[in-house]
Amino acid sequence: MYYILVIGDIVGKTGRNVLFSHLPELQKEFDINFTIVNGENAVTRNGITEKYAYQMLEAGADVITLGNHAFDKSDIFPMLEKGDRIIRPLNYPPDRPGDGVYLTEKDGMRIAVINLIGKVYLDEKNSCPFVTGKKAVENVKDRADIIVVDFHAEATSEKQALGYYLDGEATAVYGTHTHVQTNDDRILPGGTAYLTDVGMTGPVESVIGLKKEIAIPRFLGERTKTFEWAEGEAMINGIVYGIDESDFKVREMTKINRRYNG
Ligand SMILES: [Fe+2]
Ligand SMILES: [Fe+2]
Repeated sequence: MYYILVIGDIVGKTGRNVLFSHLPELQKEFDINFTIVNGENAVTRNGITEKYAYQMLEAGADVITLGNHAFDKSDIFPMLEKGDRIIRPLNYPPDRPGDGVYLTEKDGMRIAVINLIGKVYLDEKNSCPFVTGKKAVENVKDRADIIVVDFHAEATSEKQALGYYLDGEATAVYGTHTHVQTNDDRILPGGTAYLTDVGMTGPVESVIGLKKEIAIPRFLGERTKTFEWAEGEAMINGIVYGIDESDFKVREMTKINRRYNG
């Protein structure tokens, strides 16, 4: 069996620290061959910097995926342009730095990771994730044994629809962005492993990462400009795929939802 670990959106310092401290032991526990980390919320006010991206890679990530905050910090642009083990959603306008597909080989397996962003409740200017995603999968299928898709999207319906749209072609399609892990991991009829959202890696006592004392007033109409990720008890959310090396299909899925003292 070949094991891939996916880690949900790293949120702030709490998320970074819990990842750096506990990723190696998770990789050991699940006998992981390849690790994908979504790093789009690594810094305050979102985005990621080169320093933290390299720290994630040093901690054991094989590739970093991003989302709607991919371009919030221009510090990451050179690393994106080099394509140094970091990708951003493929269906952004083509003038944006970086690529949305990462191809590599590890432990005898050729792997393609594709990052896409949804359109529903997100930036409508992006090209269609369905059309772009299908083309990308077709483009890499002769060069990859395993194709994994990180679909960074808000709407559960858009995520499920893309899962079915790529069913039988992608090895696994999982969602990121909502920061709440869903409980619908399953194998679709065509053989693609599907999960609506892997969740987030960051502070437990928070509103999707944000301090609840800042998040709640926003819903009460206060236009506060304050932005602070919460701290304290941390969680790691993710999923492990066990992939059969004879036919490259997912046979096992284990969701990760661990808590660690702050
Ligand atoms: Fe996120
Ligand atoms: Fe996001």
